[in-house]
Amino acid sequence: MRLISSRSFLLLLFTFSINACSPTRTNNAETVAENPWPYGFMAAVANPLATEAAAEMLSRGGHAVDAAIAAHAVLGLLEPESSGLGGGGFMLIFERSEHAVRFFDGREAAPSGARADMFMSGNRLQGYLDSNQSGNAVGVPGTVALYKSIHDAYGKLPWTELFEPAILLAAEGFEVSSKTASSLPSLALRSRLDENPGVAQYFYPNGEPLKAGQVIRNPEYAETLRRIASEGTSAFYTGEIAEAIVTAAQAGEDGGTLTMQDMASYRVIERPAICGAWRELNICAATPPSSGPMQIMIANLYDRLLPRLPTNTQRVKAFVDAQRLAYADRDYYFGDPDHVNVPVEELLDSRYLDSRANSPTAPGAVPIHGDPAKVLGRSSAAVFAADSTVEPAGTTHFSIVDNEGNAISATMTVESPFGSKRWAAGFVLNNEMTDFARAYDPDEPEPANMVRPGARPRSSMSPTIVLDARNELFMVTGSPGGNSIPAYTAKTLIGIVDWQMSVKEAIDFPNIIARGQTVRVEVGREPGQAMSSALTEYGYQVQESQGEDSGLHVILVGENGLEGAADPRRLGSVMSTAPSH
Ligand code: DON
Repeated sequence: MRLISSRSFLLLLFTFSINACSPTRTNNAETVAENPWPYGFMAAVANPLATEAAAEMLSRGGHAVDAAIAAHAVLGLLEPESSGLGGGGFMLIFERSEHAVRFFDGREAAPSGARADMFMSGNRLQGYLDSNQSGNAVGVPGTVALYKSIHDAYGKLPWTELFEPAILLAAEGFEVSSKTASSLPSLALRSRLDENPGVAQYFYPNGEPLKAGQVIRNPEYAETLRRIASEGTSAFYTGEIAEAIVTAAQAGEDGGTLTMQDMASYRVIERPAICGAWRELNICAATPPSSGPMQIMIANLYDRLLPRLPTNTQRVKAFVDAQRLAYADRDYYFGDPDHVNVPVEELLDSRYLDSRANSPTAPGAVPIHGDPAKVLGRSSAAVFAADSTVEPAGTTHFSIVDNEGNAISATMTVESPFGSKRWAAGFVLNNEMTDFARAYDPDEPEPANMVRPGARPRSSMSPTIVLDARNELFMVTGSPGGNSIPAYTAKTLIGIVDWQMSVKEAIDFPNIIARGQTVRVEVGREPGQAMSSALTEYGYQVQESQGEDSGLHVILVGENGLEGAADPRRLGSVMSTAPSH
C-alpha cells in the first residue's frame, strides 16, 4: 500500500508530512520447487542493442549470467567509453535456488611493477590527466576472466553463443551513439584520444570525430571476440591479444610496467557478499575493494537520523547527513582487503551506527571519519592518511532477472571515459590504477587505498541486490558515476522503499551527492531547485549542477510482477517477457 503517491511526493515536497511505510511482498513460497518464478525475465541495460542481446539469451532459456555476458560484450562495442574487454568490474549474483548472493570481483589488478609513488613526479603529485593517460594507469583487465567465472558458476548456454550478437554488430556495422560521439570533439582538445595509435584511427577516421548515427564496424573487436569464443580466456590473457595489451600499456615516454606475466597471473576473486538488515529487507552488497557496504550504512543511518513523523524536507536532510557520514568513513577506511584491514563489520555494527548517527556533522563543516573500534571497545584500526581519489565518468551498470528469478547486478568500468586512451585489439585499455590514492609521501601514514603491486584499487562501484525477509528477490540496483555511485544507488533504495516512489520516479528524482563539505544537487530536474534552496537554508554548502551522470538501471519485484526502468540521463532501455510498469 502506498501512503502517498510519489507524484504527490514530488509536487508537495517540503510542505507535507508522510509516514514511512515498508514494502509488501506477496510471495509466500517455502521453496523454489513449490513455487516456480512467476514473473518471467527483465533486463535493464545502458544501450538498447545490449538490452536486446540480453533478452535474446534469456529467451533462449539462458541464465542471467549468460544474458550479462552477451549484453556486456555488446556494451564494449557500443559504449566503449564506459567499459569493455580492456577494463573490469564487479558482479553480484542471486541464485534463487541457493537463496544466496555471491560476489565476483573482476577488478583490474596492479601490475607487479606498480609502485606507491608511480603517480608522483619527485615529491609533487602528477596532474590528473598525466596520470590518467600514462601506461602506469593501466591495470590488468578483469572483464574476460569475469565472464568465464560467472559462466562456469551458472551459465546454461554454450560459451560460444554468448558472443554472437556482439560479433555480428562489430562485423556488420552499427550506429555510433550520441553518447559516444558527444565527447569526442572535446576529448580531442584535452586528451590523446585523437593521437594514440588505434584510438585515433577508430574514433577520428580521417582526423574527424565520429558523428552520432554514423555507421561503423570494428573488425578487430569482432576478431578478438571470435578468439575468446573459440579458444576461451587463454586467448586473451596469453598470446597475441595479451601482447597487444602489454605493448600499448608500455608505449611512450610515460609507458607503464604491465607484463605478459601480469596478464597470465590475473584471477577473478570470489569474495563474500555482505547482507545487512534494513527494515524487513536485507541489502546485499559487494565488499571491499567495492564501496558496497555504504548502501547498508546509508540506509541504516538514514533511519536513525529521521525524526519522528518527518516532513519531506527532513527526509532529504536525513539522506544528506547519512551520506556525509558514510562517505567520510568510506574515504578513510576502504581499500583492498587483501592488503589492509577494512573494518566492514564494525562499521555496520548497530552500536557504531547508533553512535555515528548521534554525531552528525554541522551542515557547513567537513565530515570526518568515525572510530568504530573505539565505540565497540576494541583496539583501534590502523591510522590512515586521507584519500581524495578523483573519479570521472566512464562506467556502466546493468540489472538482469532471468526466467527462474535469478538475478545479476553488474557494474563494469574502464574508469575515465575511454580509459587511458590506449588501444589494443579493438578496445580501449582502462586507467583503473588512478582509482588508488595517487598521492604518496613516505613520511606520512600510508593511505588505505595506496598503490601496491597486485592490489586492486578501491572502487565506488556498488552493484546491489536487495532481498526480502524470506530471502526472495526484492530489488536489483546500481549505477555508474564514480564517487557519486553510492549516492545514486542509495537514492533508489530510499526512494523506492521510504519515499514510496515507482522505480522510474526514483531514478528520475534529482541526484543529491553529499560527500565532504559540499552537497551537490541536480537542479535540472524537479524538485531539485526547491531541494537546493531548502538545503542551503539548513546551512549546507550546496553546489547546483544541471545534469548528474548517473546511469541507474533498476529492477524491482513489485506486487504485480517486475518493474524496471532505465536512467533517462543515459541511453538505456528495459526489455521483459511482460510489459514493464
Ligand atoms: O571503480 C570506480 O569507482 C570508478 N572507476 C568508477 C568510475 C565511474 O563510475 C565513472 N562513471 N561514470
